[in-house]
Amino acid sequence: MKYIDVGSERIPALGFGTFQLHGQNCVDAVKDAISIGYRHIDTAGMYHNETETGEGIKASDIARNELFVTTKLWTDSLAPDAVRKTTEHSLQQLQTDYLDLLLIHWPSSSVPLEDTLGAMHRLREEGKVRFLGVSNFTIAWLKEVDKTGIPVITNQVECHVLLSQEKLLNYMREKSMFLTAYSPLAKGRLVNHPVLDDIGRKHGKTSTQVALRWLIQQDDVAAIPKASDQEKRRKNMAIFDFELDSEDLEKIDALEKNRRFVDFPGLSPEWD
Ligand SMILES: NC(=O)c1ccc[n+]([C@@H]2O[C@H](COP(=O)([O-])OP(=O)(O)OC[C@H]3O[C@@H](n4cnc5c(N)ncnc54)[C@H](OP(=O)(O)O)[C@@H]3O)[C@@H](O)[C@H]2O)c1
Repeated sequence: MKYIDVGSERIPALGFGTFQLHGQNCVDAVKDAISIGYRHIDTAGMYHNETETGEGIKASDIARNELFVTTKLWTDSLAPDAVRKTTEHSLQQLQTDYLDLLLIHWPSSSVPLEDTLGAMHRLREEGKVRFLGVSNFTIAWLKEVDKTGIPVITNQVECHVLLSQEKLLNYMREKSMFLTAYSPLAKGRLVNHPVLDDIGRKHGKTSTQVALRWLIQQDDVAAIPKASDQEKRRKNMAIFDFELDSEDLEKIDALEKNRRFVDFPGLSPEWD
C-alpha cells in the first residue's frame, strides 16, 4: 500500500468505493475488501448504503482505528443544523463514534460555504470528524474554501487516464491538498483499453491495473475504485508490485485527457 501523509496521519492511497452497492452485496463487499487489505472505505449519504457499509466494517473484525472511513453531505444537508443532524445520522448508520473524513459532496450556492464548513469544523472540534474535505470542487470553488481559513485535506473529483485534472491537481498541491480520484476506471470504460492493455502486457498486468497504477504512482493522488466481485477487488489491489516507466507514461500522456463521464447539468459546477 502507498500512503498519503497528512500531518502525522497516513491515509491509504487506494480505497474502496461503494457507490451502487446495496443490501447484503454491500455488506459482503465491504467486509471482503477489508479482509483483502483495503483500509480506506468511501461512502456517502446519497448512496443509501451507510448502514450496510457499517455492517461490513463491523463484520470485518478490523479495529476501527485501522480504517479510514469517508462519507459525504448531500446538497440538501449543507445548512449548519442539517450538517450536524446528517452527520450524526451517518455516524449512527455506520456504527462508529467518528468519521475519518467528511466531504461536501457537490458545491452549492444554496448555503454560504463558510456556514457549511463552519458547522463541519465544529464537528471536528468535538471529535466526531477527524478531517474535512470537498468533492467536485473546481479551482474557483477551492478559492472560496481558502477564504474561510478552514483546513480541508482533499477534493474528491473524477480523475483517470482520460481526465488528468492536471490544472486542478497543481492548484491543490499549492494548497497542500491531495486529490482523491473517483471513477478511476472511468466507470469501467478502461477495461480492455487497447493502449493500457498493451502497456499491461509488458508488466503482466491488466488494463485496469495500469489505469489505477497511473493514478497511485502520482504524488498526492488517492483512488477509490468500486468493484462488486472479489476477483476485481483483488486485481485492483495488486498494483503495488510494478512501476510504469517513462515509455508507458508517454503513451498514457498521449491519450485524450478531458473525457468526463460524471456530469449533471444543474448540479455540476463550471468545470476547470
Ligand atoms: N464524489 C462523487 O461525486 C463521486 C462520483 C462517482 C463515484 N464516486 C466514488 O468513487 C467510487 C468509484 O467510482 P465509480 O464506481 O463511479 O467507477 P469506477 O470505480 O471507475 O468503475 C467501476 C466499474 O468498473 C468495474 N471494475 C472495477 N474493477 C474492475 C476490474 N478489475 N476489472 C474489470 N472491471 C472492473 C466495476 O465492475 P462491477 O460492476 O462488477 O462493480 C464497475 O462497473 C464510487 O464507488 C464512489 O465511492 C464519487
